[in-house]
Amino acid sequence: MLVAGMVAALVFGGVGTAAPGAVATPDGGLELLLAKAYLPADFDQEVFDELWTVWEEPLKSQAGRAPIEERRRMAMERYGLVPHPADPSRSMQYVRDADGRWIMNCLACHQGQVRGEPIHGVPNSTYALETLTEEVRLVKINQRKAFSHMDVGSLLLPLGTTNGTTNAVIFGVALMRHRDPDLSIVQRPPRLDLVHHDMDAPAWWHYRRRRTLYADGFAPKGHRMLMQFLLVKENGPDRFHEWEDDFRAIEEWIAALEPPRWTGPVNRERADRGAEVFADHCGACHGTYGPGGSYPDRVIPIAEIGTDRVRLDSLTAKERGELNASWFGHFGDDAKGMHDREAPTGYVAPPLDGVWASAPYFHNGSVPTLWHVLHPGERPAVWRRTPTGYDDARVGLEVEERAAMPPGRLVPADRRQFFDTRKPGKSAAGHDFPDALTEDEKTAVLEYLKTL
Ligand code: HEC
Ligand code: HEC
Repeated sequence: MLVAGMVAALVFGGVGTAAPGAVATPDGGLELLLAKAYLPADFDQEVFDELWTVWEEPLKSQAGRAPIEERRRMAMERYGLVPHPADPSRSMQYVRDADGRWIMNCLACHQGQVRGEPIHGVPNSTYALETLTEEVRLVKINQRKAFSHMDVGSLLLPLGTTNGTTNAVIFGVALMRHRDPDLSIVQRPPRLDLVHHDMDAPAWWHYRRRRTLYADGFAPKGHRMLMQFLLVKENGPDRFHEWEDDFRAIEEWIAALEPPRWTGPVNRERADRGAEVFADHCGACHGTYGPGGSYPDRVIPIAEIGTDRVRLDSLTAKERGELNASWFGHFGDDAKGMHDREAPTGYVAPPLDGVWASAPYFHNGSVPTLWHVLHPGERPAVWRRTPTGYDDARVGLEVEERAAMPPGRLVPADRRQFFDTRKPGKSAAGHDFPDALTEDEKTAVLEYLKTL
């Protein structure tokens, strides 16, 4: 577990030795992510500090009676924001400028916590973007303030129907529609046939092992591809050129991230047995680990993997091709840019380093623990996590499991705490390979997965 001082050292760099799960140099990329605004502001401090006024009871009254620091802490927890180690009134997910305005950054989706402690590269599995945006809008109406790009955008596109997952892929498609290949802005009528679906962001420490990017692996890897999130109309092509060096530094930082190490007890004998079972049943797709380990980076056809196929079907060959043919898909040194996967047939079998830390599992975040990955028949239809609880036995999120959604109408903020696998794009089915294992073998593999 990370202690506060170490977290501060991680964020500010300057430490010569990297602790387990920690980040060595270069930290320039992290500093840019935390401090530099690449998007227009989302809201100001006054809006953030009044968000509690639109909460449901009894939370609202509790917040009303609480001192401001406690109220801010409650807001951070409600929206799944990670407090900034140097200043808990700020969040790592938003840059705060000199005027107190909050500006979303990449860490919104890509900086999470495990057991309540931040770990770099871990996806933010608590981010409540849709709830935050809705409530910001209400407070801005009360304060007679103008809406931002996100406030307006979310009226047109769903942002995320379950906390911790977002419709990020479709934001990208919607924004790219208004760009030429060189990123100059063109007006086109909006698409009405987009297939909205929520995704769980992947762990960033895999970046260095990946050859191509994304769940279906269609995009070439490179610093330009990382800039898609900046496609708001305020950013013309010259901004992208101006910021290229920043994103080289950000890419370098992401590529240097190490998977975090499991710090709990491990039954060595059982893990060794698990390693053998893994080599027989899993390694052909997921690779080998430890010294001399190798990662095959295979795309597995959808019929074979059987996980939710909405993400695969949501992008057309034309969209994939256009993204790759644009400025984002060319880096000058095109040896890095792999364009051979534009027509994927399924999903990439991801590397499993640090997999204990990156729950929930599968590209849509539908499976809460590794135990559930290994027991396809026992995956809950509906689950809700505790705010920061970690399940050491099943390895993953501590969850409440349900056969169905609770009866009656829930306020949206509460509804989004539940992951309902029966909704489109959210199926937890598939990847039935563990069915070939005995219970004993599954227990051994679970132990082994902790050690990766
Ligand atoms: C709103 C949430 C969100 C934000 C903000 C965001 N991302 Fe992502 N990111 C995702 C999701 C979801 C995926 C998975 C997409 C897929 O696989 O189709 C992803 C994928 C990636 C990947 C690919 C990793 C892999 O192994 O395939 C990288 C790298 C990445 N993002 C970097 C960034 C950077 C850099 C920024 C800021 C400029 C950023 N992201 C902002 C949600 C987000
Ligand atoms: C035929 C190839 C294949 C085999 C065999 C296979 N997997 Fe996978 N695995 C995949 C693919 C593809 C995914 C991604 C599925 C998705 O996200 O929809 C995946 C996902 C996973 C994940 C979730 C990773 C994450 O970060 O979300 C875990 C854990 C996992 N596999 C473990 C195993 C174990 C353990 C075995 C052996 C019992 C195994 N797999 C066998 C292809 C395979």
